[in-house]
Amino acid sequence: MPPSPAPPRHTAIVGLQWGDEGKGKIVDLLTADHDVVVRYNGGANAGHTVVTGGEKYALHLIPSGILYPEKVCVIANGVVVDPETLIHEMNTLHQRGIEIGDNLRISSRAHVVMPYHKVHDAALETFLSKTVVENGKDLSIGTTRRGIGPAYADKVHRSTAIRIGDLLEPDLLHRKLRVICAIRTAELSALNLDTPPLDPDELTDDLIAHGQRLAPFITDTTYLLHDFMAEGRSILFEGANACLLDIDHGTYPYVTSSNCSSLGIPAGTGVPGVHIKRVLGIMKAYTTRVGAGPFPTEQENEIGHRIRKRGHEYGTTTGRPRRCGWLDLVAVRYSAMICGVTGLACMLLDVLSGLDEIQICTGYRTPDGSITDRFIPDAHGLSAMQPVYETLPGWQEEIDEATQRSKLPDNAQRYLDRIEILTGLPLNIVSVGPDRNQTLKAVPA
Ligand code: IMP
Repeated sequence: MPPSPAPPRHTAIVGLQWGDEGKGKIVDLLTADHDVVVRYNGGANAGHTVVTGGEKYALHLIPSGILYPEKVCVIANGVVVDPETLIHEMNTLHQRGIEIGDNLRISSRAHVVMPYHKVHDAALETFLSKTVVENGKDLSIGTTRRGIGPAYADKVHRSTAIRIGDLLEPDLLHRKLRVICAIRTAELSALNLDTPPLDPDELTDDLIAHGQRLAPFITDTTYLLHDFMAEGRSILFEGANACLLDIDHGTYPYVTSSNCSSLGIPAGTGVPGVHIKRVLGIMKAYTTRVGAGPFPTEQENEIGHRIRKRGHEYGTTTGRPRRCGWLDLVAVRYSAMICGVTGLACMLLDVLSGLDEIQICTGYRTPDGSITDRFIPDAHGLSAMQPVYETLPGWQEEIDEATQRSKLPDNAQRYLDRIEILTGLPLNIVSVGPDRNQTLKAVPA
């Protein structure tokens, strides 16, 4: 009897640090093995660049699976959708010859990022940045100013929220916006923002136009995903942002406003976690962070500059220089625990070539002098921790042409071995450059 085909494997991909781990490259690699790619959290604050066929695509909302005509991309209910950004991405892809039809599906229950959310996000950040509270520090988060927090806040408020499905209901939309605009105008002026009153008629017209453009793609994505699974199609869940930015489990309040760990998948898609047997955790060989918030292994020195320069560590969405530091395995272990990670991908190992010594943070010294190996998912508590390092010898050789892990310099192999030992997880993928062929894969990835 021929062997029965292996059951489809649904996979989650999630960042284990503070974002920008290189998830885009891994999503792109694994898309080939899956039929459907799903975004479950966040919005246009995420950004990844995919290079394929010599062409470069910068995507914020549409999963990069859209570049493969036979794959279906789903923007599920947990995402906050800025229709202007989404339509701009769709138009840009169309102009470059990428067809968008049945291969894109958007949840009618995803929430809408409204223009006033973006204004509010920026105004609040500016207001807070002028209000010093302690040691020269203010209360601003350093957000991407894409309206993410205010949009999720409205989702939780309920009465002031607009969902994608509402864009198809002009009368209801207009009635809601008349009330919402009055409230928002008052709130914006309280933030010292001298803007003209929001005009519900104009806003309704714009949103109806967006709704007409998006109508063919809007559906109940929860049933759609369950139908896909029943048909035997395999799903790739693409986490945006990263575990340490998770609203519940990250370094609160310096986090984003969604569950960006893999725990966001069930609520953000309607697919129970029990279906997802493979969770690939993406980490850099070092650590970066954008925006404010504690970062125990940050190197505000030559090492940090060097990593930023070699790793091109500037934000895809905002262009901001990223803060850089040593690998923090206390943080990675914590994220792997929260996300149920079954294997790791270590990105940007090539950036560390040329250093005499490399440090790995294995624990934190607490203010009372004791050492802990536990992460503290709270900004105030974490900022009191001092990193405890293990020092490893570096390697001088460039490794971007390596094709196998066993061919890497001994000290690079030692570094990777140490990561596996200290996390207790296998390194399924090691990346030594941006291209697909600069990827060292263990089997199975
Ligand atoms: P927001 O998501 O724009 O509200 O920003 C909240 C915090 O999360 C800020 O520190 C951002 O820089 C950070 N952040 C949000 N999305 C990403 C991401 O995709 N990569 C890295 N940092 C992010």
